[in-house]
Amino acid sequence: MALLPILRFPDVRLKKVAEPIIKIDESIRQLANDMAETMYEAPGIGLAATQVDVHKQLIIIDVSEDKSELLVFINPRLEHCEGAQQGEEGCLSVPGIYEKVERAERVTVHYLDLEGQSRSLEAEGLLAVCLQHELDHLNGKVFVDHLSQLKQTRIKNRLAKQARVTA
Ligand code: NI
Repeated sequence: MALLPILRFPDVRLKKVAEPIIKIDESIRQLANDMAETMYEAPGIGLAATQVDVHKQLIIIDVSEDKSELLVFINPRLEHCEGAQQGEEGCLSVPGIYEKVERAERVTVHYLDLEGQSRSLEAEGLLAVCLQHELDHLNGKVFVDHLSQLKQTRIKNRLAKQARVTA
C-alpha cells in the first residue's frame, strides 16, 4: 500500500481522457488499493485514477458514514440519467473549494468489478452525484468546468494564492 500524490487543478494532466482497462491484473488491483488508501487518508469520498496521474478508467467511491463500503468501478459507463439535483461539491484536486453543481438525481452505471465481472448499479442522491463527478474526471473534466468563466478564474486565483502561502 502507498499514498499517491494527487494532481491539483488547474494541472493540465487533469484534462487527459482515460483509456479503458483491457486486463484486470495485479497492477490494477494494486492501483485500486493505493487509491483507496489515498482517498481515506485525504479524506475524501471518491477518487478517479486521473487524479493520481494514471489515465485508466478506474474510480473508487465510499459514501458510507464509517468508511466501510468501498466501491471500485472499472470502465464505468452511465447508461441512464434522470431527474435533477443540485448540491455543493468539492474535490481532492481542488482543495478548499465548494460550489453548487447541477447533476442528475438518479443514474445507472455499468462497470466491471475487480474480478472482471460485469455489473450494474442504480444510484441516487449523494452516490449518484459522486459517480457523475468521478466519471467527469475520466473524461478530463473537473467540477469547476461546470461553473461560469468568472467563477473559474476566481478559483484559479484563490488556489494560486494558497499555493504561494503553503510553499
Ligand atoms: Ni474530484
